[in-house]
Amino acid sequence: MKKSKTILVTGGAGFIGSNFVYYLLKTHPEEKIVCVDCLTYAGNLSTLKEALQNKNFVFYKTNICNRKGIYEIFEAEKPDIVVNFAAESHVDRSIETPEIFLQTNVLGTQVMMDACRTYGVERFHQVSTDEVYGDLPLDRPDLFFTEETPIRASSPYSASKASADLLAQAYYRTYNLPVTVSRCSNNYGPYHFPEKLIPLTIANCLNDRPLPVYGEGKNVRDWLYVEDHCRAIDLIIRKGRVGEVYNVGGHNEMRNIDIVKLICDYLGKPYSLIRHVADRKGHDMRYAIDPAKIHNELGWLPETKFADGIRKTIEWYLTNREWWETIISGEYRDYYEKMYKNR
Ligand code: NAD
Ligand code: DAU
Repeated sequence: MKKSKTILVTGGAGFIGSNFVYYLLKTHPEEKIVCVDCLTYAGNLSTLKEALQNKNFVFYKTNICNRKGIYEIFEAEKPDIVVNFAAESHVDRSIETPEIFLQTNVLGTQVMMDACRTYGVERFHQVSTDEVYGDLPLDRPDLFFTEETPIRASSPYSASKASADLLAQAYYRTYNLPVTVSRCSNNYGPYHFPEKLIPLTIANCLNDRPLPVYGEGKNVRDWLYVEDHCRAIDLIIRKGRVGEVYNVGGHNEMRNIDIVKLICDYLGKPYSLIRHVADRKGHDMRYAIDPAKIHNELGWLPETKFADGIRKTIEWYLTNREWWETIISGEYRDYYEKMYKNR
């Protein structure tokens, strides 16, 4: 009988990684999941509380830049598939402190791929972002990012992700490492860290605090419910072609200001809470993914409509207050003060 697979997931205590862990436990209960996360400010072990009770789930608190530690995990667990979510993920933080982004996002990815080469895997999957393509103008709604769009990163974050993508493709070409890369648009859903637009707006609304909108709020993002992203990655690691890049997005473009107003409406809060604050440096105007390749090759389509996804998300934040209140009462308070006080 064929042995069930062992999937190693890095960054599994963060937003998308944890949703992916729960997705795998639900859809492939026979597989073993090895989660590697060093628990930065964005990683939260309480997010994995239920997973930790599952006998097919194991957690290692290890930094992906720690070569010795990562090799020991590969030696012990012999993963078949590795999915690399671990990253510094917040654009605003990358503008303040770029170095850690290069360490984790570039050098950490290299350590993971070296471990895959050394121990042998069926697949190394790099979770990347649409931000590697830079941005699109607001007055050209006919333009979308395809896998052929040139890399043109704007922030230290997106430059670090683009570097990791190039390295992954180089490891495929040079060492035949069986690599795939996915570039997804903005995700939203449960366990989203409250420094990002949607959870920050929900949390501030619920506390009747000002809602910071950068500039005029006309920037457009292409929002996808996190479970749809998880399903796309699951398809790519099992059926995607080695060496390929797959864009993931749901044709759901929205302006920031409209998202913030929609959350106010849902929670019955006044628009007077909205504060237009200084714009983000180098702020990308519009992201919009053309997902034709993953649709045509793998049959992927988003399943959650934005109206349903945002309702589920807001309800999740209402019923899981302790999760985000614990976060915003900790070191996050200093971050918030520093980033927003004189903005
Ligand atoms: P997140 O910030 O919520 O979580 C990142 C996780 O990685 C945390 O648990 C953190 O502790 C861990 N981590 C960070 N540095 C580490 C290191 N050196 N070693 C081990 N663990 C480390 O991020 P997210 O929003 O869940 O994003 C996950 C991945 O998806 C990232 O690679 C990001 O670039 C990509 N992505 C995110 C989005 C989005 O909308 N959030 C969209 C497309 C792609
Ligand atoms: O597109 C995928 C990317 O989406 C991922 O690669 C990143 O990891 C993820 O953080 C996200 O990046 P964004 O910069 O688009 O997300 P963020 O939630 O930080 O911001 C969304 C938009 O809202 C952006 O135009 C900036 C704006 N914004 C953000 C914050 C935090 C505000 O107007 N006010 C805010 O307080």
